[in-house]
Amino acid sequence: MSARIANPFKPTAGRMPPLLIGRDNIIEDFEEGLDNGPGAPGRLMRVTGARGVGKTVILTEFGRIAKARKWEVIDETASDGLSQRLLDRLAPLDKPAVSLSLKPSVSLAGLGGLSLGEANVSSQHMPLTLRETFGQRLDVLERKHAGLLVTIDEAQAAQRNDMVAIATAVQHLIRDERNIAFVFAGLPTIASKWLNDEVLTFLRRAQAEQLGDIPLQEVSDALADTFADSGIELDGEPLRMAANATNGYPFMIQLVGYHVWRIAYRRQRGESGMIVTANDAREGIANALTRLGDAMHGPELDGLSPIDKTYLLAMAQDDGPSSTSAVAERMGKDLAYANIYRTRLIDAQVIRDAGYGKVDFAIPYLRQYLREHAAYIRMHG
Ligand SMILES: Nc1ncnc2c1ncn2[C@@H]1O[C@H](COP(=O)(O)OP(=O)(O)O)[C@@H](O)[C@H]1O
Ligand SMILES: [Mg+2]
Repeated sequence: MSARIANPFKPTAGRMPPLLIGRDNIIEDFEEGLDNGPGAPGRLMRVTGARGVGKTVILTEFGRIAKARKWEVIDETASDGLSQRLLDRLAPLDKPAVSLSLKPSVSLAGLGGLSLGEANVSSQHMPLTLRETFGQRLDVLERKHAGLLVTIDEAQAAQRNDMVAIATAVQHLIRDERNIAFVFAGLPTIASKWLNDEVLTFLRRAQAEQLGDIPLQEVSDALADTFADSGIELDGEPLRMAANATNGYPFMIQLVGYHVWRIAYRRQRGESGMIVTANDAREGIANALTRLGDAMHGPELDGLSPIDKTYLLAMAQDDGPSSTSAVAERMGKDLAYANIYRTRLIDAQVIRDAGYGKVDFAIPYLRQYLREHAAYIRMHG
């Protein structure tokens, strides 16, 4: 028996894929930003896209690129206490100035100002404190001709006061021509959540990069190469089946790759000249689809309101694009009412405008998942 070969595919959120495909343009924009110096557009960027499209992976890649230029990288994920965590990571250990300036909030809270008082004081102080602390770190880095990259993932989940503090600080640092780059990534809903906020107009100026599907030819080439590198041949009809099954959706590329590879490997382990048959491909794709439902469609639907889901279930009755008036009729509502949900679902990139009063699903295999789980979704909202 030969030694076991590890499956090269990574169907796990945030994991770097064996081959990062279809992202040359955005990577070039970012590199250009770093190389063109302060004020370059690529130094302030917002990356949006549906779940599983590769936002976290692109932030990791940006971090790698920045580190290769000897930059310091701070990568954070938005959740409670975001700006405080940024401070903690920026503050030099021998300088307690930061925690001192935050003390008043603590004592206020202690005096009965409660959580509201505490939030007010710290959100007042935070932008300046952040800006100063960033500035001190940049003083050190710039002396070495290095810069600082800050990435914020899941930005749609940030607290408003954190976003305000960070945006204010970064805005000043950019205006002062400091050697900083700031990239935030999130679901398409960040557009309505942050960019309409008067205080956050600065974020609207960020270069918008929408991550989307990857052309099937690139998917096909990457699958074939990754299989070949691990000693399994994937070509012809099985390759066509696998590439098509991904729909160019990055998470599905990893899922299909992983499960097809697994089936083919299990069947031939130890043999020389391993090859993927059409049966391997079929079985692997079926397994990948089951996982896609559990990992993506379930959580995606959990984030939607019951009426959003009713709208989707009405759409799922069609085999292709749905007429919006037919959907309204199936919902038992008038068109104006149904269109509120149409707009919400388009904003969330769950569905897309298919022209001529039609909408279609924007997430691969969501129709199939809805059909299979319709009874459950109706019962549990
Ligand atoms: N450009 C890409 N090429 C191939 N696979 C990718 C690419 N981008 C992401 N993936 C894979 O897709 C999955 C989801 O990526 P992730 O960055 O977690 O997405 P998001 O943060 O948008 O939800 C991971 O398994 C990752 O390896
Ligand atoms: Mg992510």
